[in-house]
Amino acid sequence: MTEHVRISTTDRVTHVVLARPEKKNAITQAMYGSMAQAIREYSAGNDARALVITGEGDYFTSGNDLQDFARGADGDGPPPVVQFLNAIASCEKPLIAAVNGPAIGVGLTMLLHCDLVYAARGATLSAPFVKLGLVPEAASSLLLPEAVGQAVANDIFMTGRALSADEALQFGLVARVFDDTELADGVGEIALHVANSAPNALRLTKSLVRHRGAEIAAQMEREGKLFSDQLGSPDFAESVAAMMQKRAPVYP
Ligand code: COA
Repeated sequence: MTEHVRISTTDRVTHVVLARPEKKNAITQAMYGSMAQAIREYSAGNDARALVITGEGDYFTSGNDLQDFARGADGDGPPPVVQFLNAIASCEKPLIAAVNGPAIGVGLTMLLHCDLVYAARGATLSAPFVKLGLVPEAASSLLLPEAVGQAVANDIFMTGRALSADEALQFGLVARVFDDTELADGVGEIALHVANSAPNALRLTKSLVRHRGAEIAAQMEREGKLFSDQLGSPDFAESVAAMMQKRAPVYP
């Protein structure tokens, strides 16, 4: 467990808050582990009937913690990031995202596994994997083109540009945009509504909408292999070095 993820349940709603604002909520392996456990317990348990993921401070998340990432995971079994991705992809109950600010990398790709996605007007969505010498993850190479079309998906993946909340709404990546100060209350009301709705009908509806678990798992595995290879590549090393030194990268 880590103090950088706050987990609480009230009125049958579990809240998972990324709470590392001093690092723009960059996600470490320990944070992935806590989130994975919270989502697995939520999916298997009877208590909570809605789960809301949000960020503390001005960011939703700046994505994978780049230093932590480069160090790799300890121990046996699937690394925490893989456990997290498996947990969100296989969760049987409603997952709600309240995107309070920029959502970078996994901040965007996790939204493709959430059932109800709401954003603050000041939020942005970006997936700058190529900018880092990496490839998309979380089955986003399958799910994003399906959601927004290949042209827009490639614009997001290949240029790394950030979409505004209004563009994300227009492309169907978020369901509603709230004024920044109204997001928490607005999503809180929706979460309560969901938590008080017929639980089995919700679960069955989710299973009908998301019925391609095997295909998604296979794509995640394909991506994961390429992603790990790229983590050891000169492109990744140069991209991260350039970012830290605040200069343009130079690729051979
Ligand atoms: N991994 C690790 N640390 C991160 C981080 C990340 N993904 N994102 C932000 N941080 C850290 C910064 O290193 C900085 O730490 P420091 O105060 O110890 O120096 C702190 O968070 C604040 O970030 P800073 O860069 O000073 O703020 P900013 O407002 O100028 O820029 C970002 C914020 C998010 C635009 C910038 O930090 C960034 O581009 N981060 C990388 C995003 C990324 O590529 N994510 C991976 C996607 S796969």
